[in-house]
Amino acid sequence: MRHADHVRLLRDGVPGRRGTWADLGAGQGAFTLALADLLPDGSTIQAVDRDRGALDVLRARYAAFARGRAVPDLRTTVADFTRDLAIGPLDGVLMANSLHFVKDKAPVLARVRAMLGPDGRLIVVEYDTDSGNAWVPHPLSFDTWRGVALAAGFGEPRLLATHPSRFLRRIYAALSAPHGVSGTDRATVSAIPSLGERLEARRAGARL
Ligand SMILES: C[S@@+](CC[C@H](N)C(=O)[O-])C[C@H]1O[C@@H](n2cnc3c(N)ncnc32)[C@H](O)[C@@H]1O
Repeated sequence: MRHADHVRLLRDGVPGRRGTWADLGAGQGAFTLALADLLPDGSTIQAVDRDRGALDVLRARYAAFARGRAVPDLRTTVADFTRDLAIGPLDGVLMANSLHFVKDKAPVLARVRAMLGPDGRLIVVEYDTDSGNAWVPHPLSFDTWRGVALAAGFGEPRLLATHPSRFLRRIYAALSAPHGVSGTDRATVSAIPSLGERLEARRAGARL
């Protein structure tokens, strides 16, 4: 997958307003860079991973990415996200290809909920399958994620985007919020016709 694919998967779940996000299981930062592309300057990304070496790579990649442009502040923490991270309240949490390492997801999701502020949101990126293997031990399809998220006290998840995967069928990104997705997000904004579109439609005799 290329950077543009990572950005596309997250795009509709990241509001265009300044915020503080955590990327749990950030690894070498493929999705951290995508998040950085979508958040405005003045935002902060807290990248958490238990693998110090991966975070070293992430910092180097982020420095190259940041050259000549304004990007969110990056902080990195070596930690186990199944334990108390003492961070928050956050505007968003991203878990990309990391929740499938956890068999019992409920306690982790309870911690994530506790990290989120009142308008906070969780984006999960996962393989759309319920059959694991040695590399992806406990994946969950979008249908399964729906049940797990609701049981963990999140609102109805929204499927943001998918990407084909030769490895395990396809990858999906889903947006969840503790009380359902609130506020004006990018998808809502893009669903509202622009002034130009309305004028164009009026000229064509249609009503938007
Ligand atoms: C498959 S990589 C995904 C990295 C990145 N999010 C991406 O999608 O490219 C999974 C990462 O999650 C991290 N991870 C798994 N379980 C973790 C835990 N309990 N605490 C912190 N990091 C964890 C691993 O160290 C690894 O870097």
